[in-house]
Amino acid sequence: PSTSFKLNTGAEIPSVGLGTWQAQPGEVAIAVEHALRSGYRHIDCALIYQNEKEVGTGIANSGVPRSEIFLTSKLWNSYHDNVQKSIDQTLADLGVESVDLFLVHWPVRLVPNEGSELFPMNADGTRAVDKDWDQTKTWAAMEEVLAQGKAKAIGVSNWSIPYLEKLSQTWEVVPAVNQVELHPFNPQHELKAWCDKRGILLEAYCPLGSTNSPLLSDPELNHIAEKHGVSPATILISYQPARGVVVLPKSVSKGRIEQNLKLIDLDESDMGILNGMAAKGKQQRVNTPLFGWDLGFDDWYPEQAAEK
Ligand code: A2P
Repeated sequence: PSTSFKLNTGAEIPSVGLGTWQAQPGEVAIAVEHALRSGYRHIDCALIYQNEKEVGTGIANSGVPRSEIFLTSKLWNSYHDNVQKSIDQTLADLGVESVDLFLVHWPVRLVPNEGSELFPMNADGTRAVDKDWDQTKTWAAMEEVLAQGKAKAIGVSNWSIPYLEKLSQTWEVVPAVNQVELHPFNPQHELKAWCDKRGILLEAYCPLGSTNSPLLSDPELNHIAEKHGVSPATILISYQPARGVVVLPKSVSKGRIEQNLKLIDLDESDMGILNGMAAKGKQQRVNTPLFGWDLGFDDWYPEQAAEK
């Protein structure tokens, strides 16, 4: 199995990274430290996970040199008009001089108000979204972060093809990465083909189907797992690098953290089954796209807009 991929910047990125979303501040430092001691060299963070200080503590406690670790963080939606504020906060919290990859978390700008900076709402109970915001401005500010050296590479997250098409009209730097929800029930083959063509590497979040996963009990998946004598989680994690995608399983359990770093080789028949699962009516997202189609962004996830 591929243990690393090359970004369009030329940098290497380990094919498995530890996800930290929904890892509580009290547990994430220990999880990060354990992951690094177990051989992980890639940690995926975000300002909005509200645990970057503890991630920084875990890195420091691990004793693994900063230069050996691939660190990703993400611009929060409230800072599209102030990208510097978001990256500076992240660098301070993580306790590092730069990150290896900085992503635009969602192609949506929220307008902070007195009620909330991170999750602002309008008086009528809808989200305080700036629907007129021009994402190409956000990207220009991301390019500045790259030029300053605060991030060694820049990319996006949760961008569908229509959004990428628009950005491609003005980008000077091609995003290195697009991090999206990917697993056999939501493989996004079209998005993958689009990104492959332009040298944008996909990263898989919720590769296990998140908490209360509908995937882990799937009979076809379990059949493949039994055949190889491994857990269904190992199959789901191995599937992504096998198709050329970075995988970011989240865990705060020591045993599962260790298990999730072990990739196995899948054969053509396994890949055929895994690639075709969504087509068999199992199409399903697990991360409700709060900042997507429920806000009227029908071009966000075209396949779900069509189902509505
Ligand atoms: P925990 O953190 O207690 O290990 P995803 O990466 O798709 O978001 O999934 C994360 C969820 O899957 C978490 O609830 C996590 O719980 C659980 N999980 C992580 N690794 C495994 C594994 N190897 N087997 C089963 N569940 C796992």
